Order: sequence, then C-alpha cells, then structure tokens
Amino acid sequence: MLIHRDIPGLRAALGPWRARSARIALVPTMGALHDGHLSLVAAARAAAEVVVVSIFVNPTQFGPNEDLSRYPRDEAGDLAKLRDAGCDLAWLPTVNAMYPEGSATFVEVRGVSEGFEGAIRPGHFSGVATVCTKLFLQTGADVAAFGEKDWQQLQVVRRAARDLDIPVRILPVPTMREADGLALSSRNRFLSAEERAKAPLLYAALRRAAARIVAGEAAGAVLAEEDAVLRGEGFVPDYLALVEAETLRPLDILSPGCTARVIAAARLGTVRLLDNIPLD
Ligand code: PAF
Repeated sequence: MLIHRDIPGLRAALGPWRARSARIALVPTMGALHDGHLSLVAAARAAAEVVVVSIFVNPTQFGPNEDLSRYPRDEAGDLAKLRDAGCDLAWLPTVNAMYPEGSATFVEVRGVSEGFEGAIRPGHFSGVATVCTKLFLQTGADVAAFGEKDWQQLQVVRRAARDLDIPVRILPVPTMREADGLALSSRNRFLSAEERAKAPLLYAALRRAAARIVAGEAAGAVLAEEDAVLRGEGFVPDYLALVEAETLRPLDILSPGCTARVIAAARLGTVRLLDNIPLD
C-alpha cells in the first residue's frame, strides 16, 4: 500500500494507473477507522480496480466550539486496517497540503445543506463539500463511497458533485450496526457504559416511527411521541424528522411514490448520535 501526504506525490503515484485507464475508487474518511469504514473500502474495492482511502481530519467542517482537538486519531492502527482491507493508496494530506496559506475558495451547497445538521452546525457542510470537492479533483476518482449513516452529508456531496460537473459516481453504502442496532460511529467510543447501553434506543425509536408512518399515521404526532420517549431515557434530541430522501424537504405524510427517510440527531451525555432509516 502506497502512502502519500502531498499533492505532487499523490499525482505521481496515480499517474501509472491513470495511464492504463484503471478505474479509481475513493473512500473519504477522517480516520479512527471502524468496521463501517471497512465496509466502504469493500464497496470501493468491488467498484473499481484502484482503491484510494483518504484520512484527513478536516478543520473546516468543525465549528469553533466543536470537537476538532478531541476527534480520535490513530494513524498507525488505521494504516494497518487499510493494508488488511486491500487499500492501494492511503492519502494522508497535511493541513497545509489541503489548505495552503491563502486558500480562499469554499463550496456552498444551498437547499439540501441548510436544515437539520446545517442549521445546528453552521459552516459544517461548506467544509464537507469543500474538502470532498478537493478530494475528488485531487484523486480524479471515478467512484466515491459514502456511508448512508450521514444521510444529509451524502445528499450534500452528491449535489455538489452534480452541480460542479465532477465526473464522480457517488456510491451510497448502507449503515453498519452493532448487534443491538447502534449505528457504528467513531464517536461511540466516548459513550459511558450506561450511555452505551441506552444508545440503541435511538434506532429503536426510528424503527417504530417508520413502521407507524408507513402504516399511514402523520409524522408530526408520531415523531413528537418518540421525541418524548427518548427524552424520558436521557437523550436530548436535536431533531427527529420525516424528509424527502434526496432534498431533505420535511414531509408530514408519505405520498405514493415518494422516497422518504426518517432522520434523527440526539445528544446522549456529551456524544451526538446521528441515525436514519428508509421508508420504502
Ligand atoms: O464523514 C466523514 O468522515 C467526513 O465528513 C468526510 C466525508 C470524510 C469529509 O471530511
């Protein structure tokens, strides 16, 4: 597995693959890799001949009061996992390689990035869209794999690639869960034992809500009930919402033919849990 940390090195390494028109799949990550990330690598592996995994804790997607400094980092462990997973090239840009002195260009995605996470974390999706755009252009990836767990992020990145005519296919990969239903996340390690035992209740609430909405109940009342259940268990929900899957437009009832998702974010102690479920 090749490892590169600057753009000239990356370009030189990708050159021979490009010369023989090998398809390149990118898996963008911020490291602290778990089995969910490795499922993205496996999906990338199945989609292309060359797999590039980026590890970059992107400062522009963290707000001033967010956890950039406490974001978990384990470069040696991550590289060992990537070697085992069959990654061809690990792209580990330094902050200076990604944002050289004087960088002044950002990608803003309107509409889909404005509600939910975008409203709670101003600037977050601009940071995500900017770094993903740069990663697509740096690697020239044909395919890029993103987890469905960060549903709004997936839609923002897809919109940005489409709007900027970047010829990358965004490959969504289903959320990996623990046996009790908790979605895998790098932040789960910060849950106390008691919080970890309660954390799967978020997915349980989503499943109950989805079943009732599919059966014809109005989302507003169902989600208000589930919000109260979660609060009773010690969660502080930021939102629980039925949305149109691609645009994130809020919905109250499911209309025939509409692809929808219930999305949620809730704090449990100091950890923010995100999850979502399809209503197919
Ligand atoms: O989901 C993540 O880990 C990050 O938001 C991403 C897509 C790697 C961009 O920094």
